[in-house]
Amino acid sequence: MFSMPLRDGARLGPLEVRHAEEFAEHLDRAREHIRPWVGAAFVTGDLAGARGTLERYARRQAADGARLFGIWREGTLVGGVMFTDFQAALGSCEVGCWLEPAAEGHGLVTQACEALLDWAFHVRGLHRAEWHCRADNDRSAAVAKRLGMTLEGVRREAWPYEGVRHDKQLWAVLAREWRAPGR
Ligand SMILES: CC(C)(COP(=O)(O)OP(=O)(O)OC[C@H]1O[C@@H](n2cnc3c(N)ncnc32)[C@H](O)[C@@H]1OP(=O)(O)O)[C@@H](O)C(=O)NCCC(=O)NCCS
Repeated sequence: MFSMPLRDGARLGPLEVRHAEEFAEHLDRAREHIRPWVGAAFVTGDLAGARGTLERYARRQAADGARLFGIWREGTLVGGVMFTDFQAALGSCEVGCWLEPAAEGHGLVTQACEALLDWAFHVRGLHRAEWHCRADNDRSAAVAKRLGMTLEGVRREAWPYEGVRHDKQLWAVLAREWRAPGR
């Protein structure tokens, strides 16, 4: 019901079970583009799989855990951002993202992640937000950098994909390093 405006007339809003059909259609456009870089469970192949992802996030959100948000441009779901992990008691979260190819290169994910981090730090009072990506995922690392995150380390050969183990980067920003909302 509620959404917030992003640049280029795009909008950010909760991605819920009721969106299963458009999420499945979006995955048809995004699947091969995101497959090497995101968790295997996220890359489902049909409507039931897409609905399963939304149901899993809904259950976790109900427990104040992970949350999923979609990015709509001209009424079409083109990607999204999420708290892949959210632990209020520990003051810590992890943010993730994806886009279909046509939506890349417009700054939508950076702006959407800023909204999530504003909420995590300023509304929920979290202390630390992480970003995990394959070390050769230059576009993802560029988002972390644009968000002002620091590369804290590399988990060597931590990401198995198609028989090869890739290094994984860990980026993070602390509440005291985060900027004020709207800046
Ligand atoms: C990671 C991913 C979401 C990044 O998408 P993106 O479009 O590069 O990121 P943003 O939405 O922040 O946009 C940044 C781009 O928009 C451009 N841009 C245009 N206007 C902008 C603005 N006002 N502010 C910021 N960037 C802007 C930037 O120059 C940059 O483009 P460039 O890299 O070609 O120079 C995308 O590449 C993707 O979906 N990859 C596959 C899945 C994936 O890797 N997910 C992350 C797993 S860790």
